[in-house]
Amino acid sequence: MNIVGADARQMARLNGREPIVRFVGIGKTYDGVTRVVDELHLDVERGEFLTLLGPSGSGKTTTLMLLAGFETPTAGEILLEGKPLSRVPPYQRHIGMVFQNYALFPHMSVDENIAFPLSVRGVPAADIAKRVERALDMVQLGGFGRRRPAQLSGGQQQRVAVARALVFEPKLILMDEPLGALDKQLREQMQLEIRRLHQRLGVTMVYVTHDQAEALTMSDRIAVFHRGKIQQLDTPEQMYEYPKNAFVARFIGENNRLDGKLETHADGRCTIRMTAGDTRIDGTLVEPVKNGDVVTVSLRPERVQIRAAGHTLNGHPGCRLAGSLQEIIYLGDHVRARVVLTSGGEFMVKRPISEAHTLPRIGAVVDVFWAPEHCRAFAQES
Ligand SMILES: Nc1ncnc2c1ncn2[C@@H]1O[C@H](COP(=O)(O)OP(=O)(O)O)[C@@H](O)[C@H]1O
Ligand SMILES: [Mg+2]
Repeated sequence: MNIVGADARQMARLNGREPIVRFVGIGKTYDGVTRVVDELHLDVERGEFLTLLGPSGSGKTTTLMLLAGFETPTAGEILLEGKPLSRVPPYQRHIGMVFQNYALFPHMSVDENIAFPLSVRGVPAADIAKRVERALDMVQLGGFGRRRPAQLSGGQQQRVAVARALVFEPKLILMDEPLGALDKQLREQMQLEIRRLHQRLGVTMVYVTHDQAEALTMSDRIAVFHRGKIQQLDTPEQMYEYPKNAFVARFIGENNRLDGKLETHADGRCTIRMTAGDTRIDGTLVEPVKNGDVVTVSLRPERVQIRAAGHTLNGHPGCRLAGSLQEIIYLGDHVRARVVLTSGGEFMVKRPISEAHTLPRIGAVVDVFWAPEHCRAFAQES
């Protein structure tokens, strides 16, 4: 380590800006063949809400279990506050955990459940009562302490699990799909509650979900997982607006996807010859791809405008496709229009409800338009 590097690291530590967790080249295989977590490098910043987002089987839970200490990495090292974790057993890591199935002790009261992490740590009984009460208030369950878990709703049980994870004031809380068993309305309410709790307590959160809307709602940063690798690590806004590859673009938000071949490119702009029909469109080249290579083009439905054929729209002539308007779906706050493209394939267009009356009629011959910066071309997914 050079002097400048050491100084910088020392400074970061003094400022409290050293990452609370560092995954350094972490690998995990259960069968000796498949790398469920593959060369993972990830810094978790102190106080942030970091979400691991990815499809089922992408390695999210394994990553969390490695951090909690319930699994052992087969390569690399995890540092917690700068200290290697490999020889620290789970209970000495002082990490709070919340699981999807709540994992409450059914024979214990709510109070006893929440007290558990304190009693195993030898906290005096008088302190325990006070801290349990405070934790219950935090999750808006004051007065429910004497009940058994079975006497609570799913949402209330999950709040107890959250209180139990908070009560010993860990610096780090891990949550693995904690809202997965709740219905949509309650899930959305709990998302905001957990987010507010995080903001109020300043605790670092590592949260796992396969639900992209949940990740966008709750997180400071999102790490998108696919096949044990982080595909992109970014803020929700950056992730949504500037996906870095076709997988992230497909996994987050809605997309119109088109296939083609890269014809020309310069300075990030490109022209793509579409596979379907004899058309070319302009877009933004996101990944290094050679002319002639197959690319996937992705375009958010809300970035597309629609007009009856013959009406022009200010904009780039290479960002337009012809089609016919097949369907208009009214969704209260917005409308969706489904367009069948003349060149083949379909396009979804999403417009605010205030523009509903400007849409052409069903059956009309139309053009769809967009700006080249919103049309992103990626290397084809392997
Ligand atoms: N204890 C285990 N033994 C063997 N394979 C496992 C074990 N846990 C998970 N896996 C496998 O590892 C892969 C990643 O699983 P997991 O980390 O649970 O993904 P996720 O949480 O993203 O759904 C999956 O293919 C899964 O079947
Ligand atoms: Mg999982």
